[in-house]
Amino acid sequence: MESTGGHRPILVIGGTGKTGRHVVDRLRRRGKEVRALSRSTPVPFDWFDESTWKTAVSGAGAAYLVDAQNEHAAERMRAFAPFAVAQGVERLVLLSARGWADSGDPGMLATEDAVRDSGGAWTILRPTWFMQGFAEDDLMRAPVLAGEVRLPAGDGLEPFIDTEDIAETAAAVLTREGDEGCTYELSGPRALTLAEAVAAIAEASGRPVRYVPVSEEEYVAGLVADGTPEDAARFVARLWGWLRDGEDAHLSDGVQRVLGRAPVDLTDFVRRAAAAGAWAG
Ligand SMILES: NC(=O)c1ccc[n+]([C@@H]2O[C@H](COP(=O)([O-])OP(=O)(O)OC[C@H]3O[C@@H](n4cnc5c(N)ncnc54)[C@H](OP(=O)(O)O)[C@@H]3O)[C@@H](O)[C@H]2O)c1
Repeated sequence: MESTGGHRPILVIGGTGKTGRHVVDRLRRRGKEVRALSRSTPVPFDWFDESTWKTAVSGAGAAYLVDAQNEHAAERMRAFAPFAVAQGVERLVLLSARGWADSGDPGMLATEDAVRDSGGAWTILRPTWFMQGFAEDDLMRAPVLAGEVRLPAGDGLEPFIDTEDIAETAAAVLTREGDEGCTYELSGPRALTLAEAVAAIAEASGRPVRYVPVSEEEYVAGLVADGTPEDAARFVARLWGWLRDGEDAHLSDGVQRVLGRAPVDLTDFVRRAAAAGAWAG
């Protein structure tokens, strides 16, 4: 069934990012009126400039939310989500992360709690690591281009997910009834080691690239030498540590439950990304 407020614009906060731009695309293909929002969109939205919020949300019926991605993310969501609901936004779909839930640290779920407490109808999406990290994030793409992906991930397994599957899932729950109060964990169809994922990229791209497992200390030192603040470097190393320790290896069925089809396999993603020139030049 079509969602209530379905005739009103849908906000996509983080609408220029790795998931948001595909959410925008998917919603437009469904004939929806969409307002992509970020600091650089025609209608600007800044998590840290509340003077941008009213115009940004005006008249909208639903919102896809990518949070501020820093230590203020939960506090900003606790301010914004009830504001949006008070302005008439009825449905909130939050991009969270499966790892936050698996960490056992309730503090990692503070942004989810803020959305659940907002008074709006909420749906939470918790994906695994994105396949697109290898193609779109400097942190991962630059090592692919350099021929050596050096990570403290050992032989740990990760069921990487295609951000287009996240976007299709988000577009579905933003535009139909029945997913209110649901938390969907989203993974790809297969858990792979970093060695297997990088080998698939090498084969699809024709580049001589290999995975080299390194210690957390070596990884952090490398990021800090490249200009990453030490706290941020240690945080990312901790995420790889969960993967290395086997915490990420399980599969999740959210894509199948929402879309009624299997998620995209990494092999198909790397072929598509290579054909689009992700690792050319
Ligand atoms: N990467 C992964 O493997 C992974 C796995 C699981 C979950 N996640 C979750 O995915 C989320 C990131 O989503 P994504 O990859 O789609 O985003 P992204 O590619 O990192 O893009 C971030 C978006 O937020 C906007 N933005 C940044 N600062 C902003 C600000 N102060 N105010 C308003 N907008 C701002 C950016 O646009 P402007 O720069 O134009 O403002 C951009 O549209 C994170 O919460 C992360 O925890 C990631």
